[in-house]
Amino acid sequence: MKKIVSVINQKGGVGKTTTATNLACGLALRGHRILLIDLDPQGHTTIGLGMAGQYEYAIQDVLTKNKKIKEVIIHTSVEGLDLIAANIHLSKTANLLFNEHFRETRLKNALDEVDADYDFVIVDCHPSLGILEINALFASNYILVPTDTGRYSLEGFADLIDTIKGIKGVENNIKEYLRILITIYDSREKGINDWVKEQLEDFAEIVLATKIRKITGLKQAQIAEVPIMVYDGKSPGTEDYLQLTDELLQLWQ
Ligand SMILES: Nc1ncnc2c1ncn2[C@@H]1O[C@H](COP(=O)(O)OP(=O)(O)OP(=O)(O)O)[C@@H](O)[C@H]1O
Ligand SMILES: [Mg+2]
Repeated sequence: MKKIVSVINQKGGVGKTTTATNLACGLALRGHRILLIDLDPQGHTTIGLGMAGQYEYAIQDVLTKNKKIKEVIIHTSVEGLDLIAANIHLSKTANLLFNEHFRETRLKNALDEVDADYDFVIVDCHPSLGILEINALFASNYILVPTDTGRYSLEGFADLIDTIKGIKGVENNIKEYLRILITIYDSREKGINDWVKEQLEDFAEIVLATKIRKITGLKQAQIAEVPIMVYDGKSPGTEDYLQLTDELLQLWQ
């Protein structure tokens, strides 16, 4: 079965896009065929890969059924990595789908058509829990929740996990499909790190061993419109995201 991974957290700015993009690159680097889906009207994944303005159709064209998924997939400059782009027009999709039947499974059904073409599909979600994110969760068999170590990032955490459990069903054990990734981590912030550990005590078994450290150079990579992994092969960010790739490959292979 193809692995479809949602990178999701309703909290903004916790490293979802950085993680989705660099994990997708890491998996491609390890020889896997990857489809990265930008499911955020902010389009940061699309911009970050230098693909803004390089596409004709975007993810909203699939969700509203105007286009077949194969018509909206584009190749990126990273070998083995394809993309479905997003832009601000995606924000209207929720309203367009409001009265539609089976609106929660549009993405899942579309992905069935490319089942044989990819080893992993990575979905970068918008920071909310609406119809787009519910589409992502229905389509996914694996879920990755990045969180930074800020007080507010852990505020709605239990609610997020409950929403995910509600969609995946109680018969499925979260240990099988869900992992939490600590991002923007600084080992010198001992008091904060201890507090985070305490907050995540109930979820300790599903917190990944890999932590993504604070990365310098991300802004430069954003300006260059390439992922950190491409921008600087020696960056600690590259090291951490390759470690994440390998940890997840071992878990989910
Ligand atoms: N490991 C890191 N070290 C330092 N800065 C980081 C790290 N990860 C992400 N950032 C920075 O934090 C900001 C938010 O990151 P990112 O866009 O990946 O988060 P997001 O969860 O996708 O945000 P949104 O909720 O808006 O989609 C960006 O400016 C990014 O460069
Ligand atoms: Mg993002």
